[in-house]
Amino acid sequence: MQIASKSFVVPMIAFLGGVVLLPVCIFVLAVAGLLSSDATSTPPKWESAIGQAALHASLRRRASGLHDPLAGSDAELAAGLTTYMNTCAGCHGDFSRHGWGFNGLYPRAPQFGKAPPTLTAEETYAAVKFGVRYSAMGANQHMPEKDAWQVATFVSRLRSLPPAVSAAWTAKPKQ
Ligand code: HEC
Repeated sequence: MQIASKSFVVPMIAFLGGVVLLPVCIFVLAVAGLLSSDATSTPPKWESAIGQAALHASLRRRASGLHDPLAGSDAELAAGLTTYMNTCAGCHGDFSRHGWGFNGLYPRAPQFGKAPPTLTAEETYAAVKFGVRYSAMGANQHMPEKDAWQVATFVSRLRSLPPAVSAAWTAKPKQ
């Protein structure tokens, strides 16, 4: 009996030591300035994958109860394209050019011209309207509802735009 409890105590102490030691080590590294804080390093693949999975799960939850009020007509999508070019392309890029967020932000801003998101209009709206914590994706709280839904619908339809809107999206930039 005594042997059994002794063999339990040692791993337990090691486990608790590890649980306490890990955050203490991270804290010590942080206050010593040894954790990276630049925005130019390439985020490791594992970090981006975990971050994106967590963000998408959170957007799914935040979008529950929302309902895109638009019908997704060509005119609404074209208006969404205009808002996108004026408000989002600087970071997320357009069809043929990278935006600032390609290598100047951490976490990176996904480049929607090369890799359109796999989010619904409601999930995109949640990101646009209320932003993404710990990132350069700010909340557009004062954007009119109509504009927010138009740009969210446009972005969520990037993989399946109707021909007229697709032609405007993929047209060569003017300058
Ligand atoms: C100042 C730069 C900046 C601007 C402007 C900006 N975003 Fe973002 N956005 C980001 C960054 C950075 C992320 C990545 C956040 C993360 O991964 O944690 C992001 C993430 C997103 C996401 C989540 C994408 C995904 O698949 O994970 C969506 C959707 C989005 N932005 C849409 C928009 C739209 C639409 C606009 C314009 C109304 C916009 N953003 C304007 C920087 C920006």
